[in-house]
Amino acid sequence: MRVRVTTDQPWDVAADILVAPIVGDPDFGGPFGELDRRTHGELSALQAFGELRSKRFTSSIAASGDAKAGRVLTISAGPAEDLDRETASRIASATMHRLAGRHVKTLAVWLDPLAAALDGGAVVAAELVARGIVEGSFDPKTIYLDSFPTAPPVIEELILVAPGADTAACAKAAERGAIMGDGANLARRLANRSANDVSPEVLAEEAYTLAKQHGLWIDVIGPEKATELGMGMFMAVGRGSDNPPRMIVMRSGKKGETDALGRHLAIIGKGVCFDSGGISIKPSDRMEEMKMDKTGACTVIAAIATVARLAPGTPLLAVAPAVENMPGPHSARPGDLVKALNGKWVDITNTDAEGRLILGDAMTYAEQQGATHLVDVATLTGAVSRALGDLVTGAFGNDQGWTDSVLGAGKQAGERYWQLPLVEEYWTEMESWYGDMVNSGSSEGGLVKSGLFLREFATKPWVHLDIAGTAYYRRAKPWAPRGATGVSHATLVELALAGARPA
Ligand code: BES
Ligand code: MN
Ligand code: ZN
Repeated sequence: MRVRVTTDQPWDVAADILVAPIVGDPDFGGPFGELDRRTHGELSALQAFGELRSKRFTSSIAASGDAKAGRVLTISAGPAEDLDRETASRIASATMHRLAGRHVKTLAVWLDPLAAALDGGAVVAAELVARGIVEGSFDPKTIYLDSFPTAPPVIEELILVAPGADTAACAKAAERGAIMGDGANLARRLANRSANDVSPEVLAEEAYTLAKQHGLWIDVIGPEKATELGMGMFMAVGRGSDNPPRMIVMRSGKKGETDALGRHLAIIGKGVCFDSGGISIKPSDRMEEMKMDKTGACTVIAAIATVARLAPGTPLLAVAPAVENMPGPHSARPGDLVKALNGKWVDITNTDAEGRLILGDAMTYAEQQGATHLVDVATLTGAVSRALGDLVTGAFGNDQGWTDSVLGAGKQAGERYWQLPLVEEYWTEMESWYGDMVNSGSSEGGLVKSGLFLREFATKPWVHLDIAGTAYYRRAKPWAPRGATGVSHATLVELALAGARPA
């Protein structure tokens, strides 16, 4: 997709369709009124008919009259005071969904209505719209099907219409946004692929291909080496399947090298290619969703590749423990005691609490590789989706300053997080008769306990993002189809780029 920025007026832009966002109520007194006149009053007629609702994401397609675009698509963005980064990029994604199955090759988006309501104006709008258009072009059906009637259009040229804006700055921002969108889509595509397609080995091969493509260092640790290193928790899960586990380690910059903020940041992602629960097997209802239990891993692999595209050489470590959690003769049993890489003895009371086992060893390994700051991303608990639903990611941290930095990157990225407390008193329920701790206590406060468990494997500032609610949608949204959302990819990229050295 080519991206072009123009300072022409929206009615003078030739394209298959012109997108006119409506922020608040349509204002026929300004340039929207001029666009209406060019369409011979189509827009005001729609307004009179009651078609231009101010409810966010409602849209309509009008004939264009003398405006140069083939058609005009209006889409409501909701009140100006509520227009944040997330909404701006979702408005762009929603236009792509509105155009599913339509014939659109050149798409023009009028930035001004969004730019007027956003901090950062046209430049920020250009980035978010480009990202939203790219993300809006993703549909998981394209993974296995060659064609289907509701396929998103393949846009050849995106024209950003910003009369009076700095076109060079907007073009640069749009390029950044498109790369961010590509990265999120890469994570979504990988996460949505099925478990008979993406085993831990295949995930490692995908990581390898990306590493070669972007000049990243990569090391893939198999079961023998992992056992020898002492990754007892990782292997307790990994040994249960015929598909052997892989600890995927990727790096940009040099080993232990610190970035412009003095950090050696490690991003760690849960890579359970299928979570049957193991011996503590899950009910069959919705078990098919558990192919997406590798989303955290897909997210960190995509994020380090995106950082390599935007700011090559920025120090960053990505660790993705990849396993399949299966029941079988080699599986861990409830009551098994295993020794973690950090030396702690863990009593596996529930084999379905497998994410924290593989992540704990991955966190220790990241510290051994020189990480000074950790962030993990994981589809860790059903409890987080009951608490926060599919639009807000749960966050835990052992250091408030670092937690604030991560959540700040989230704001920058237009992603929503809610910090949850690590309640010290609940630790008594994680105590084991045999070892240092159990991996699963009683279900009350289970979300907090998952955080308490992981904290045992961090000696450095660490944040845990539980994306079990936000990683994929069960039902389509106006801005996204069902399936993987790419959540927290942008947050991780912003967080890493904050430490990039100016080129
Ligand atoms: N992968 C699941 C969590 C999950 C559930 C993700 C639903 C997405 C949707 C995780 O491994 C798991 O099984 N968690 C258990 C933990 C419990 C055994 C302590 C859970 O949430 O029930
Ligand atoms: Mn599980
Ligand atoms: Zn899981």
